[in-house]
Amino acid sequence: MGTASAQRVEELRSLLQHHGHLYYVLDAPTVPDAEYDRLFRELQDLETQHPDLRTADSPTQRVGGKPLAQFDSVRHAVPMLSIRTETDTQASGAQAFDTRIRKELELPEGAAPVQYVTELKFDGLAMSLRYENGLLVQAATRGDGEYGEDVTHNIRTIGQIPLRLHDAPPLLEVRGEVYMRRDDFEALNARQRLRIAAGEKGEKTFVNPRNAAAGAVRQLDPAIAAQRPLRFFAYGVGQVQGGPAWATHHELLQALKAWGFPVAEQTSTALGADGLLAFYERTGAQRAQLPFDIDGVVYKVNSLAVQQRLGFVSREPRWAVAHKYPAQEQITTVLDIDVQVGRTGKLTPVAKLAPVFVGGVTVTNATLHNEDEARRKDVRLGDQVIVRRAGDVIPEVVSVLPDSMQRPDRGAMFTMPRICPVCGSQALREEDEADYRCTGGLFCSAQRKQAFLHFVQRRAVEVEGLGEKLVDQLVDAGLVSTLPDLYRLGFAALAALDRMAEKSANNLVEALEKSKATSLPRFLYGLGIRHVGEATAKALARHFGSMDALMQASEADLLLVNDVGPTVAQSIHTFFAQAHNREVVEQLRACGLHWPAMEAASDAPKPLAGLTFVITGTLPTLGRDAAKALIEDAGAKVAGSVSKKTSFVLAGSEAGSKLDKALELGVPVIDEAALHTMLEAS
Ligand code: IVH
Repeated sequence: MGTASAQRVEELRSLLQHHGHLYYVLDAPTVPDAEYDRLFRELQDLETQHPDLRTADSPTQRVGGKPLAQFDSVRHAVPMLSIRTETDTQASGAQAFDTRIRKELELPEGAAPVQYVTELKFDGLAMSLRYENGLLVQAATRGDGEYGEDVTHNIRTIGQIPLRLHDAPPLLEVRGEVYMRRDDFEALNARQRLRIAAGEKGEKTFVNPRNAAAGAVRQLDPAIAAQRPLRFFAYGVGQVQGGPAWATHHELLQALKAWGFPVAEQTSTALGADGLLAFYERTGAQRAQLPFDIDGVVYKVNSLAVQQRLGFVSREPRWAVAHKYPAQEQITTVLDIDVQVGRTGKLTPVAKLAPVFVGGVTVTNATLHNEDEARRKDVRLGDQVIVRRAGDVIPEVVSVLPDSMQRPDRGAMFTMPRICPVCGSQALREEDEADYRCTGGLFCSAQRKQAFLHFVQRRAVEVEGLGEKLVDQLVDAGLVSTLPDLYRLGFAALAALDRMAEKSANNLVEALEKSKATSLPRFLYGLGIRHVGEATAKALARHFGSMDALMQASEADLLLVNDVGPTVAQSIHTFFAQAHNREVVEQLRACGLHWPAMEAASDAPKPLAGLTFVITGTLPTLGRDAAKALIEDAGAKVAGSVSKKTSFVLAGSEAGSKLDKALELGVPVIDEAALHTMLEAS
């Protein structure tokens, strides 16, 4: 063996370790993947030529172990503890912990606030990584805290976990969480579905990222584990010999970071109960946008000396607590599957559920989205299902429990009715579309009701106090069939309705009167033209200036408007080409609806002038272009990347590195609802 080869092997390992860290941990590679692959192959070749140069810590050895027959049991040198849970999901949870700590420490009233480290409570599985003389020698699950399972062969396949440490103490156990990102989990399940469809035996989909991660870690065959996109966050240490003398937990985490371990960037320090609470609330607001699941936050006393003084109660340290958020997933029973008809006739299957408290509210309905989704999840009457509600999103059925799938008396699989369940018109599914639509138009009372609700909502002409129940009553009694009918109702007709007090009838008459003074964008949006959302309505109003100009516009004219493409242009043109729609507009004007000329409106000061926004992820209702148009119309700039100069990051679901960057730089992150509030407040 030439020393030149030995030297090159070392060089390659250092290079690969360096680039691996940039790629896996920092998400900031500096060389193209192909270059990494080239270095990797060169090392592989050298190791094949010189097998004596092959070592366990070589990056080539992450995958390649043989399948195991079973896991070996491992005794943890320092037990893996659990954290006490403060289940109180209110502000008082943070306060209670701080009060307990101050009492334990016998701090007099008025003494300085206690310093804490605040962390995320990752929803994965705990892992202990043992490094001897800088080499990863063992990875073990938590098990019962005293004995775990040796899963080294699988953990070595996780790119984020260093196989070798520089300048590390002779003995170091790193503790942290193995987890899977949500997008990786979705992609994994999509691949699994393909495998199942291809008839591969023994394949299944996973219920959630944690189960998928746990399944991967406990794979006997590391080649399979290597295909599962696992990640790691470090949050502490176990046994350490000959290490630096850390004074605080924060210092310890910094050291782990310097050794190359991923430490969640949200991890921070906090002072007293107020600091804990601020972290709890801040994290709660960002939770839905994080790329991975958490089920709460963790508070830890920062000073290691104080931690020692506080000690343990049974297997739980007194110096740490987990403060959870309301569970986002629960199990409940499907009582029925309804089909609802939307404003544009879209048929949506909805699971009616036994009431269940999830994500902070009681849920009785969960969307199944469309026929394909309902059939793919195979949700049937009487099934036990997992329901999820994250952030402000509509509750959805995640999956059916396996036991339910096996019931002998299970009913038939869901099929979408071919006629509208409300009006009996034909329901059609167009090619390349996921949705069935009722073809009844305004003949369909469900569509009519939705059309009214859309018109009277706050963002359209706003008729205060006119809600779903009342609209149902009005439509069902045949009192209104087109929008102008609303303004012809009058006090007597309203007061004659069931359960309608005189006072309420009066209020409603007043609200209708008040709604007549509106704006062109609100009016346009309220008409409910397909594909015309708020932003498009604004752009149209600004461009054409008046209703008449818009109604006369050709498709070519419409295409000149910012944000209007062929589909939208066609939809608007078709709408106004129909005599009955033009009639509705005329009659509404005749009833007294009016709005100021747009030219005047455009002189108004721009509410968001001087600010810079960055948009990331999928927003619940606005498309990216629409959001951009709204922000720009309000005078702000929309930039492509986050910097210290960014005023706000507008984040939707599946937001990625831009959100990470914002959190890192402390740039405020808002959601779509907050944007609307900003625009309205100004
Ligand atoms: S510290 C001294 N920190 O929670 C306490 N644990 O009940 C040792 N977990 O299974 C654990 N995020 O996997 C700690 N930031 C965090 C955590 C965390 C999640 C899990 C851990 C363990 C459980 C403890």
